[in-house]
Amino acid sequence: MKARIIAIDGPAASGKSTLAENLASALDYLYFDTGVMYRAVTLAALKSGTPVMDESAVTAIANELDLDVQSPSIDDGRQCDVLMAGKDVTWEIRSPAVDENVSQVSMYPGVREAMTRRQREIGLRGAVVMAGRDIGTVVLPEAELKIYLDASVEARANRRYEESLGRGNSVNVDVILEGMRERDRLDSTRALAPLRPAEDAVIIDSTELSIHEVLEKVLALAEDVSQQGEA
Ligand code: DC
Repeated sequence: MKARIIAIDGPAASGKSTLAENLASALDYLYFDTGVMYRAVTLAALKSGTPVMDESAVTAIANELDLDVQSPSIDDGRQCDVLMAGKDVTWEIRSPAVDENVSQVSMYPGVREAMTRRQREIGLRGAVVMAGRDIGTVVLPEAELKIYLDASVEARANRRYEESLGRGNSVNVDVILEGMRERDRLDSTRALAPLRPAEDAVIIDSTELSIHEVLEKVLALAEDVSQQGEA
């Protein structure tokens, strides 16, 4: 049986988005990166001068957010266009300020509830690859295939470093490594929907694997989920 709903979870820079994008393209499914939503709420709070520690104000922003995610309109390495109130914020939501504050924002129950509701609506339509931290555990527990993609924190920090350099930013790899450790800690210890593999997830460590190797493995599972126990 072919999987119609595929959940891909894992820590920052584990390769989830690349895997999810390639998988969706191979299967002709929608690719949906849920991290974009938490990033957009964070950016909206920062832009409006709302302190990210102000839970009720940030929750109100999440409930009112005018957010749209569309197919990429520019060929600059983006996986999709992210529009906030009609404005392109695709790269702004990847800024260091958003990186620093997004874990705090994504801890708030009201923010998660608003985002989870929107994500479920999209996911339950099927023919979707949804990537995040809690897709297999909370957002779409009915997903027929759940992948938890991991990699060592050093490998992940290095990947982020290379990506930032490629975009022309001057960055320090140690600062990225420290920031990533802190984000892992916050994401996996929060009370609500923490980062963890679902019980029925297939866990893949990508530290020593190429993008192609991971994709081949997951594509075989997606085409026939009955093989899952053999992965
Ligand atoms: O995948 P990302 O780095 O773009 O995610 C940004 C943040 O959003 C991450 O620190 C945790 C949060 N997030 C979440 O809590 N739940 C999700 N399903 C996706 C992301």
